[in-house]
Amino acid sequence: MTGSAPAPVRPVAVVSGGSRGLGAVLVERLLSDGWRVATFSRTGGEFVDRTAAAAPDAFLWEQADLADPAALRRFTGSVLRRYGRVDLLVNNAAVLPGPELFLTTSPDRIAAGITTNLTGPLVLTQACARAMSRTGGGQIVTISSINALRGFRGVAVYAAAKAGLDGVTRALARELGPLGIRVNSVVPGFFDSDLTTDVTDTDRARIERRTPLGRVATVHEIADAVSFVVSPQASFITGQSIVIDGGITC
Ligand SMILES: NC(=O)c1ccc[n+]([C@@H]2O[C@H](COP(=O)([O-])OP(=O)(O)OC[C@H]3O[C@@H](n4cnc5c(N)ncnc54)[C@H](OP(=O)(O)O)[C@@H]3O)[C@@H](O)[C@H]2O)c1
Repeated sequence: MTGSAPAPVRPVAVVSGGSRGLGAVLVERLLSDGWRVATFSRTGGEFVDRTAAAAPDAFLWEQADLADPAALRRFTGSVLRRYGRVDLLVNNAAVLPGPELFLTTSPDRIAAGITTNLTGPLVLTQACARAMSRTGGGQIVTISSINALRGFRGVAVYAAAKAGLDGVTRALARELGPLGIRVNSVVPGFFDSDLTTDVTDTDRARIERRTPLGRVATVHEIADAVSFVVSPQASFITGQSIVIDGGITC
């Protein structure tokens, strides 16, 4: 029998929080590398509109809040109805609340911080990993923070969530490795984005002074680490937290 070989399946990436910052850079890169990309955030915006117009078939954005498990399940349902598979999840979205001393942080704010920054990624990871397990594997990359590794005042709840996510990375690498799913974290130090606009010039200068490489990262340097972790060159790396911080934690 003659006939042409079936077209290779175009892989599907889910990126949480792909409307701006690091998430938007990752969405752009993945699309230009040939992935189909699905993302969500609470609000859309210029990047989402532009990307949806440029890549109507390969890009999906929906409104969803990481703090709402039902919305995350609706979103992953949409992804599977549209693309039928998930090959990569980048747990990128997070909220960094303004600095707040722990002794005066209300229980509601503790619960809200953990719900958004830890429970949300867990719910999303579970839905995506189930889909990956049905198609023979995939990978999960979680954007952590050096707050998971070192103490910084005023961010205890954010640090708890990020350290928790690094623990999840190691546990899931064990649990999902036999299913062909690699699980890693990328752990950035400071880089410029909307998340860090509140950082004062004094604090920024202090960070630069304490960083062996003498500056903060660009968002592209963090995206480079994600690109490496998801590449075939990293095919034997799992369960790792890869720190990209110019040496500030060394
Ligand atoms: N910037 C840094 O210096 C730094 C350092 C270490 C680690 N990180 C980590 O890097 C990742 C990306 O940070 P970034 O600086 O690129 O942040 P960013 O510029 O503030 O962008 C955050 C993205 O996540 C979305 N998002 C936030 N809260 C959400 C929610 N509750 N539900 C759904 N989407 C939500 C935002 O859209 P909406 O607001 O419209 O929802 C946006 O698309 C985060 O995990 C952050 O913790 C950043």
